Amino acid sequence: MRLFSRKMVIQLRPMCVDDIDDVRTVGQSAWSDLYSKEFHQTFQVPKRSAHNVAFYMDKEPDGCIVAEADGHVIGDVFCHVWGKVGWFGPVEVLPNNQNAGVGKKLISGALSYLENRGCSVIGLETMPETLKNITLYSSLGFHPDRVTYLMEKSLYTSRRQTVYTPQGTSILTYDDLGEETALSAISKLSALSMPELDYSNEVRYSMKHKTGETLFFLRNGEPEGFALVYTYNTSDGSNNSSIRLMTLRNSGSVEADASSLISAAEEFARENERERMNIRFYTGNYSVFNILRSSSYVLRGTNIRMLYKGKIQSGNNVVDINSWAG
Ligand SMILES: CC(C)(COP(=O)(O)OP(=O)(O)OC[C@H]1O[C@@H](n2cnc3c(N)ncnc32)[C@H](O)[C@@H]1OP(=O)(O)O)[C@@H](O)C(=O)NCCC(=O)NCCS
Repeated sequence: MRLFSRKMVIQLRPMCVDDIDDVRTVGQSAWSDLYSKEFHQTFQVPKRSAHNVAFYMDKEPDGCIVAEADGHVIGDVFCHVWGKVGWFGPVEVLPNNQNAGVGKKLISGALSYLENRGCSVIGLETMPETLKNITLYSSLGFHPDRVTYLMEKSLYTSRRQTVYTPQGTSILTYDDLGEETALSAISKLSALSMPELDYSNEVRYSMKHKTGETLFFLRNGEPEGFALVYTYNTSDGSNNSSIRLMTLRNSGSVEADASSLISAAEEFARENERERMNIRFYTGNYSVFNILRSSSYVLRGTNIRMLYKGKIQSGNNVVDINSWAG
């Protein structure tokens, strides 16, 4: 019998390239365990792709953090910064090392990082039915904000469409517009949604890592909206695509404009042989639900956004699709 159990020494440090395989294994174990315990579903969740981890690490090198004990990676967290809006996700700990303070340590590391990066709005998204997560975040000062939706459409069964563009409008790609004009348009459009928000860095790194395409909606030659479309494999073996971000100015015909941009995103995904389109969005901008319903999307899941700091304002002058799920 051991009279004194040795206390595990946990250290946090920035993730490095050599950690990628371990981090993917930690994620797979933590999520497979969660599905089995919380939802009684026994299956191996696919690993996050190495492409996804390398992209996140390049984007926020010091905001991707591992927890190490005895030289082994036992947990990790990824931070994301969109202007002055900062969030983290996923955060994950090996099942055998859970409930020993590793998660709290990683969360505190992520919060310090986002504070130091000057974020005035900080939060995360989690599953509302996971009582452990909700209790954990609530005890650390997060409060529930709003539900976010995941809506999905099968691209395989749905009819191909010619992309309709309302009169005077056109759709261009990132390269058509040129990087400088594209990023400056994205900064201005994101600020329409919330002054603290700037998606340009996210788009710049997404394009650098070839995650898909960024499409622009122009009226009379001026960018009025954009959609960041992911067609890369975020997890091993995935056939999904997603509209990761979309912002569109409301110029009085927002439903028609949004349908046009969304159908252009779907066509791009079909050309890249993706079977489904996933769209996660914050329900503060509730018009998105009806726009997606009228484009044959169905609701597949919900998350809850929890805020640590700041407030989210959602204006009616813009349609904004975004989620804080990593
Ligand atoms: C969420 C996760 C990262 C937490 O990591 P962890 O190392 O277990 O976290 P900690 O040990 O620091 O804290 C866990 C807290 O939850 C409490 N807890 C455990 N089970 C609980 C339950 N069923 N209900 C309520 N609280 C619970 C623990 O008692 C502990 O609180 P305490 O320190 O005040 O006693 C980990 O459970 C995980 O990897 N889950 C799977 C992936 C996931 O859901 N990630 C989060 C996505 S947003």
